[in-house]
Amino acid sequence: MSDLHNDRMSPGQPSSSLGKVVLASNNAGKLREFAALLDAAGIELIPQGALNVPEAEEPHVTFVENALAKARHAAKLTGLPALADDSGLCVRALRGAPGVYSARYAQRAGGEKSDAANNARVVEQLSGETDRRAYYFCVLVLVRHADDPEPLIAEGRWHGEMLDAPRGANGFGYDPYFFLPALNASAAELDPAVKNASSHRAIALRELLARLTEVA
Ligand code: IMP
Repeated sequence: MSDLHNDRMSPGQPSSSLGKVVLASNNAGKLREFAALLDAAGIELIPQGALNVPEAEEPHVTFVENALAKARHAAKLTGLPALADDSGLCVRALRGAPGVYSARYAQRAGGEKSDAANNARVVEQLSGETDRRAYYFCVLVLVRHADDPEPLIAEGRWHGEMLDAPRGANGFGYDPYFFLPALNASAAELDPAVKNASSHRAIALRELLARLTEVA
């Protein structure tokens, strides 16, 4: 029987026995976005900063390893179940780069740590490239305790194409250069509510909720 089994749960409800879960991030936007959906599963998310948990290292070359490291770190220091995410942009013609280095892509090449410098590096690397396919990737990892042998893992991919000139003023990161053909807009041209409902994070969260229901 799973640790998540909950006798009080009514059949078919995406509920779990986890109760309080520490979020291995202090990003207010993520907390809002994640808390709204997980509330439906009876989970109360607490940002790790509120429990004095310092940020974990993210030394790995895959998103899932970094998310797992962050979740374990938060679970170990709090004794609570922990949820962590890791995300980034993967460009097909760049063999998945910027990938786990999305936040510091230009810095790795001697530039500054800024969205503008990161975007400039990707635009330059894609100059003359006809394959513009890319996706945002998000992985969510939930551990019930620091030594959980069976973390819940959910992934989301949001497919688009890279532009060579920016469009729109919303969002952050690579959004002005990330075009969604189905919506005929860049991610930075979308209403934030539309982005939050369709993004890689939203896809991964829905997947996590489904997994929670499955194992509960
Ligand atoms: P993190 O997982 O929140 O640390 O995100 C890592 C990096 O991936 C960010 O600093 C951005 O460069 C990029 N990224 C992740 N999600 C998005 C998004 O929704 N829009 C734009 N950039 C993103």
